[in-house]
Amino acid sequence: MAKSIAVAGKGGTGKSTIAALLVLHLCEKGMGPVLAVDADPDSNLGTLLGVETAKSIGDLREEVLKEMKNFPAGMSKASYVEAGLHQIIEEASGFDLITMGRGEGSGCYCSLNNMIRKFSQDLYPSYSWVVIDNEAGLEHISRRTTQYIDSLIVVVNDNPLSFDCAERIENLTEDLKSRIKKKFLVTNMVRDGRKDEVHRRLSGLKSEHICDIPYDAKLEEIVYEDKPLTSLSDSPTPGYIDLIIEKIGGINGNS
Ligand SMILES: Nc1ncnc2c1ncn2[C@@H]1O[C@H](COP(=O)(O)OP(=O)(O)OP(=O)(O)O)[C@@H](O)[C@H]1O
Ligand SMILES: [Mg+2]
Repeated sequence: MAKSIAVAGKGGTGKSTIAALLVLHLCEKGMGPVLAVDADPDSNLGTLLGVETAKSIGDLREEVLKEMKNFPAGMSKASYVEAGLHQIIEEASGFDLITMGRGEGSGCYCSLNNMIRKFSQDLYPSYSWVVIDNEAGLEHISRRTTQYIDSLIVVVNDNPLSFDCAERIENLTEDLKSRIKKKFLVTNMVRDGRKDEVHRRLSGLKSEHICDIPYDAKLEEIVYEDKPLTSLSDSPTPGYIDLIIEKIGGINGNS
């Protein structure tokens, strides 16, 4: 079974950046195949990974609802969804990407969502790792934890509000112990002069802190130039990503 990593935290802390680098480095270390899941409706994991996404799960959901009346004879909703999901998977070198897209509208999507969830999870055993980039906030964490998560990585920065968010995630996931095996914290872009205060705040949280990823001007330049993170070279950030992989890989017995 694939080992799953979910990256969560307050908006703008660096979730997508860290999720994308995790995908690229798991591949680079020969730990693939990896399934990257963009669970943020404001999808940008594909851009960071240099993969163009044609269609999202949200698009498929709308399409099924619209086309249901016109399904060819003998085609069930389930087989349409299954065939559609295989089209949605974008294949890249060493990893595949699924983009969740926008959430459901006002119609009744329950049975469809259950179907999609089941087929998506049926895909997981084909991969060694699944990396999920979550949207900011908390709601999705409670909703999506019907799926099992081996390592939840909560990203914080020097904004105290990111710690409030991390604390709420810790509390929210307290009841979900059976579905989340281990919780970690990663600090990102904390300025040197603020480290002591940030570490003091970290001590108020229960999850294990893995590392401080410093602000990386090269990474920012790549993003500014609208290039994927595959172009990142000669930078210290991948070293921190390796630390994260070591930590979660070791715990899950995959290193
Ligand atoms: N270590 C870093 N050094 C320099 N820039 C960084 C670093 N980490 C993230 N960034 C930049 O910070 C911004 C926010 O990062 P990112 O989009 O990954 O955050 P996010 O938590 O996914 O945001 P959102 O909640 O909007 O999805 C981006 O411009 C990204 O390039
Ligand atoms: Mg993001």
